[in-house]
Amino acid sequence: MHRLIAAVCLVLAACSSGPRELGQASGDRPVAPVLTGDDARDDSSFARPEIARVVHVALDLDADFEAKRLSGTATLDIEAVAAAEEIVLDSKGLEIEGIFDADGRPLPWSLGEGDARRGQPLTVRLGDTRRIVIRYRSAPEADALQWLSPAQTAGKRHPYLFSQGQSILNRTWIPTQDSPGIRQTWEARITAPEPLTVVMSGERLTPEGEPVPSGAEGPAGAGRRAFRFRMDRPVAPYLIAIAAGDLAFRPLGPRTGVWTEPAMLEAAARELADTERMMEAAEALYGPYRWGRYDMIVLPPAFPYGGMENPTLTFLTPTLIAGDKSLVGTVAHELAHSWSGNLVTNAVWADGWLNEGFTTYFENRIMEALYGEERAAQEAALSWDEMERALAELGPDAPGTRLHNPGDEGDGASGIVYDKGAIFLRTIERAVGRQRFDSYLRGYFDRHAFQPMTSARFLGDLREHLVRGDAGLESALALDDWVYRPGLPANAARPDPAAFAEVDRAVRAYAAGGSETDLPYAGWNTAERIRFVNALPRDLSIERLGALDRAFDLSQSGNSEVLFAWLQLALANRYEPAVPAAERFLLGMGRRKFVSPLFETLVGEGDWGRPIAERLYARARKGYHPVTTASVDRILQAATDPD
Ligand code: BES
Ligand code: ZN
Repeated sequence: MHRLIAAVCLVLAACSSGPRELGQASGDRPVAPVLTGDDARDDSSFARPEIARVVHVALDLDADFEAKRLSGTATLDIEAVAAAEEIVLDSKGLEIEGIFDADGRPLPWSLGEGDARRGQPLTVRLGDTRRIVIRYRSAPEADALQWLSPAQTAGKRHPYLFSQGQSILNRTWIPTQDSPGIRQTWEARITAPEPLTVVMSGERLTPEGEPVPSGAEGPAGAGRRAFRFRMDRPVAPYLIAIAAGDLAFRPLGPRTGVWTEPAMLEAAARELADTERMMEAAEALYGPYRWGRYDMIVLPPAFPYGGMENPTLTFLTPTLIAGDKSLVGTVAHELAHSWSGNLVTNAVWADGWLNEGFTTYFENRIMEALYGEERAAQEAALSWDEMERALAELGPDAPGTRLHNPGDEGDGASGIVYDKGAIFLRTIERAVGRQRFDSYLRGYFDRHAFQPMTSARFLGDLREHLVRGDAGLESALALDDWVYRPGLPANAARPDPAAFAEVDRAVRAYAAGGSETDLPYAGWNTAERIRFVNALPRDLSIERLGALDRAFDLSQSGNSEVLFAWLQLALANRYEPAVPAAERFLLGMGRRKFVSPLFETLVGEGDWGRPIAERLYARARKGYHPVTTASVDRILQAATDPD
């Protein structure tokens, strides 16, 4: 009977428009509703949550660095309609040994037909059980996992493992319903060889780890420790994350701290010293931080993203460590996801802008609160430039320039999803005033906390709580144009032209034949330097590039964003002296945002660049994460086989 009520709730909660309080269903664990309706159907998952859905995942896994596998069990708690006979999970490359009910009786299961992108549906016959135990191991080439050799770490002595779940990669190591609209609580026990420390995106229950009796699991001989974790708030499954390595921790504030390899700890702590203040600024804007601690881990350079907002433990690239806090916008960004993304989550990847666009807007508000209006205006202007580049590249009528983009599988053009998304919110802010918009957003996060969101629901909420029938405002905002139509609506809030007035003047003078010695480059901050390099004429002679390089040491820049912008310009002009710097950069880190465009530029330079790209990639590829190799493989393939 209890189960029947829960099942009815499952569907009713999905149908009702009002929020449902957490903690109402299924024993003592909070269960979040799943949305129904066409706009909430996730084509990237095989799950059918309206029949049976996972509400809790308990992992018990051993990390085997020799075999590059996680192996053990996943125990899933399920809610289902009374008549449900089976549950469909997502699986990609998982090697399943057996599936059992809570009493250890085997259950029939099958892996159905799938595709290269999504993997396969894993269907389990439930009978009347609502708890299943899957005994399995991940494949050595699991997309979500990168197993690093000691040589790929800072310390060079111990191996390292990290995961990247977004968007649909966690199904390569966790057999569950891998859809952002199906929130799940989770717990985990992970064993790993000493002296490695395991961290995850949840509460740490065993700070020092617990000794595992030898021979109990894993290869005999090696001393092993077990680490346990818990996430008792329901999260989208792409947010379950793990890292293991020779890790040290440094507190930064009462709720914040940083993990990294010992050799990096000092530099990381210095760079991230403002994090606690960022949390205070974020809470002052949109309400309490609801996840307990906010720690970060600075990963080895192979990490394919700038940052990833794994709850309680943001993952960061070491390329942010510039020495002057100039790139901590990424920290503000990942922190902001604690509201936009982790608390209120896009139900489907076609609405990724609800995560990333909101977060890019929120990031800028945090930056303004900490570092002032000028820096925030500059970063907003760079974001506008990114959007313009995306519109120019895709074409203003391209379907890919819509915010709600059914073609987006979770890797849409960031100039649209991030920057056009943020500019949309800035446009609303300017129309209604900051105070009114802030209080609307605060209410939005409260009303929809721990729930999935779609574009249509957001617009409904906005009309109900902000527009409130004001016909003038409704037509001034052009909400549907912003969300459903390509291109940029005419009411877009433009960046302050004063933000880069000085840089733009200097570039004009230089482009008109001025000398580099007249450029006040040394006095510019990082945003100004990025704007400068990106605003330079796209074809420059080798002589002028050489003079710029010598004057400002651009090929030696220790700032990854400045170096990237410079290399893009230099390589596009076949400026040979930048090749060693490009080589160092591309062999030294695997962040896709840098790696992919640089290879694209090289390949675009035909007989000059393609051989360089091929030579570099032959050496670099083995160090890159699958996320990055997938992009670069495509670029080089297209170059050799133009059809
Ligand atoms: N959630 C994203 C990373 C992501 C996006 C992973 C899409 C997989 C698919 C993260 O919050 C992010 O946006 N990172 C940016 C940094 C940000 C400051 C723009 C990055 O990695 O560069
Ligand atoms: Zn983001």
